[in-house]
Amino acid sequence: VTDATRELLLSRIRDVPDYPKPGVLFKDITPLLADPVAFTALTDFFVELCARHGATKVVGLEARGFILAAPVAVRAGLGFVPVRKAGKLPGATLGQAYELEYGTAEIEIHAEDLSADDRVMVIDDVLATGGTAEASLELIRRAGAQVAGVSVLMELGFLAGRDRLGAGLREAPLEAL
Ligand code: PRP
Repeated sequence: VTDATRELLLSRIRDVPDYPKPGVLFKDITPLLADPVAFTALTDFFVELCARHGATKVVGLEARGFILAAPVAVRAGLGFVPVRKAGKLPGATLGQAYELEYGTAEIEIHAEDLSADDRVMVIDDVLATGGTAEASLELIRRAGAQVAGVSVLMELGFLAGRDRLGAGLREAPLEAL
């Protein structure tokens, strides 16, 4: 990615103070999605990472991860697999609970969508505490597949998600634009 492209993409992320609650600075990607040049450049960034790391499947994390990962899958010629919040997938699922700041959450995957031959690229908009990504890596491995990497638009470094993922990544790369 060139510096100009990175500048363009960052300029299309809107900071919304005190959303969804006081003290939180929300990173709104809807201006980026609404700009076809920026959205295409971001898709190209993810497609290149999928190729570099030999991905055979793309996993998107609900909900914004779906929007980013689906065009990557199509452009890269790879299958798309959703990781959803618990209770949304109709088939046989694997579930993984993870800790939030207060309480727990659970995500699920259709296990039959992945096989032992798959190398999976996980795509999302933001890595914050890393809880969602960490749980998704667990699901992918429990489904019998390998992890090709985790790719995100933004990494909120001060929340140390990279450290939380650490062991779960094993040799797989975590890359943020
Ligand atoms: C946000 C974001 C990531 C996750 C990152 O999703 O899109 O998926 O949180 O946080 P973490 O690293 O602390 O786990 P959110 O749960 O808000 O879901 P949504 O996209 O459905 O609104």
